[in-house]
Amino acid sequence: MKGRVLSVASECVPLVKTGGLADVVGALPGALAAAGWDMRVLLPAYRALRARLDGMAEVWVEPNLFGGTGRVMAGRVDGLDLLLLDAPHLYDREGGPYSGPGGDWWDNPQRFAALSWVAARIAREGVAGWRPDILHAHDWQAGFAPAYLAYQGAGAVKTVITVHNIAFQGWAPASMMAELRLPAEQFHPGGLEYYGGLSSLKAGLVTADWITTVSPTYAAELMRPEFGLGLQGVIAARAARVSGILNGVDTAIWSPEAEPVGFGPGDMAGKAAARVALCAEFGIEVPGPLAIVVSRLTDQKGIDLLPAVIPDFVAAGGGLIVLGSGDPALEGAMRALAAAHPGRVAVRIGYDEALSHRLFSGADAVLVPSRFEPCGLTQMYGLRYGTLPVVASTGGLADTVIGASPATLAAGVATGVVFHPTDALAFGQALARLVDLYADPALWAQMQANAMGHPVGWETSAARYGALYQRLLA
Ligand code: ADP
Ligand code: GLC
Repeated sequence: MKGRVLSVASECVPLVKTGGLADVVGALPGALAAAGWDMRVLLPAYRALRARLDGMAEVWVEPNLFGGTGRVMAGRVDGLDLLLLDAPHLYDREGGPYSGPGGDWWDNPQRFAALSWVAARIAREGVAGWRPDILHAHDWQAGFAPAYLAYQGAGAVKTVITVHNIAFQGWAPASMMAELRLPAEQFHPGGLEYYGGLSSLKAGLVTADWITTVSPTYAAELMRPEFGLGLQGVIAARAARVSGILNGVDTAIWSPEAEPVGFGPGDMAGKAAARVALCAEFGIEVPGPLAIVVSRLTDQKGIDLLPAVIPDFVAAGGGLIVLGSGDPALEGAMRALAAAHPGRVAVRIGYDEALSHRLFSGADAVLVPSRFEPCGLTQMYGLRYGTLPVVASTGGLADTVIGASPATLAAGVATGVVFHPTDALAFGQALARLVDLYADPALWAQMQANAMGHPVGWETSAARYGALYQRLLA
């Protein structure tokens, strides 16, 4: 065993998920175990997770945790070594991890400061004979953990913070400094101060021993204002301690061979059958490429561009199925798009894991027109399923897809279509390119084979995290 790592996060598959953060936090322990690291995950015990507490052992009690008692329960759940922070006054509520029926929880600063506080204490003192060498914090929800350690004495523990999405910064008013147990003398621009207030993400970025982001291109982009969204200077100032490590996908969960209609690089008959079944399920008939979108429907994802580009794509023979939920205006726009193109465009508003597998199995292409994308996972599912990605050239999309160009086609390495900038003109041109590529069956089959042969598992990236931990411990 090379060392112990406490991973601190607000989401983790298969227990609680709103986006790719959960996939990554859930996959890292297994990937790192294979590389010789013992990783445990500390998560809040939200209402939906409290049923899991029964078989777990109490290993820590924090009597005064932001308005109540917190208990840490340890156990093995769904193949993960889990630490659940049970603090009903903070987490036992109806709703999602960050919001309830009325919007964001008013006490999110305290809720996630509590998670970070307990993480820092466990990192310093250990629980039930297990003391981590590394505390690995994810996003703003765990941002105060490296800060508490830095301000109170980290001992031998090293800290890493991973930025999955810098758009969420964990803002709180400066008047909360004392309540959040932050030392007053740290309120200055080089420390905790952030545009007159506080940001738990900034706190993590200035205090962690190392910063990672989920792709090399996003690491570079973050030093520009249009991507850093206020934190570009903070990241740039620490450039020597910033690295981009690509996410992988869980290839046991995302495996075309394991789907009900299985297929693989050598045998694509199952994919053709899955396409027929998918078209029947949605009542569509598509002579050209059948594209899908599986996404949160938000501004980040460029969903608003679809109404501008899909009519021409449909006229050229294409079809589209959208699975997603989010911004009500975008949900409405997607419904309108389907209504305008019956038999060619279909929309399912909601979250449906099983349907997402049927979509990747049966479709020809997956569209990811993001304005920014720290890593992105669906383009990698697309690669694995021979569902060619059409992606904006940003962040992890740029790092995982080889766009068809004269050079990449001549070299026989293209795996998708890449466009830039993220606007309707470039996106529309990319879809026209997709239609042309699809019309050449031999070329299309070659690109599918390239895509399915592209490694998207965790091996390389787990080794990179391992090397980083080792370097910090040396
Ligand atoms: P982000 O984390 O920014 O939302 P990612 O691409 O990293 O983007 O991860 C999104 C994850 O959520 C993927 O696993 C994707 O398949 C899944 N997902 C998003 N929307 C839906 C949906 N409506 N139904 C099923 N899965 C979804
Ligand atoms: C964030 C990003 C996404 C990334 C995911 C996991 O949700 O928006 O690009 O794949 O985190 O790191």
